[in-house]
Amino acid sequence: MDWIKHFNQDHMEVLLLLTKLDGNLQEVKHLGKVRSGILLECEEFLEVVEKVILPHFQAEEEHLYPTLVKRNPQASGFVEIMLQEHQELYEDFERFKVAVKAGEPADLITSGEGILRFLKDHILKEEKEIPVLLQGS
Ligand SMILES: [Fe+2]
Ligand SMILES: [Fe+2]
Repeated sequence: MDWIKHFNQDHMEVLLLLTKLDGNLQEVKHLGKVRSGILLECEEFLEVVEKVILPHFQAEEEHLYPTLVKRNPQASGFVEIMLQEHQELYEDFERFKVAVKAGEPADLITSGEGILRFLKDHILKEEKEIPVLLQGS
């Protein structure tokens, strides 16, 4: 299934970036302040959010999830949860954006850790469940 490969590639790239974000957050925690190099990397992460993650979410909402439910109606519960998680992540991205702009360590850590936890979990769930749900179709 070629069309799904594109989603997998995005997932793998984002997982790698999350490891980098994790390292950056650890440093902010350790130093209690945001070094300019770290701020720059957080800005780069936000650029990936704009250019890769948000279009990816949109493509899932408009194409992948509806296709999944069409092929396997039992996927509707899973899709509902995924949509809910997208909404929560949209809010986390906004919070992180504000924290990066302000260069505020505490907010940056809280919002960044939220993204780390929820986005990783979301991606791993999609990677695990989508192939199974498509097989059941
Ligand atoms: Fe998703
Ligand atoms: Fe995804």
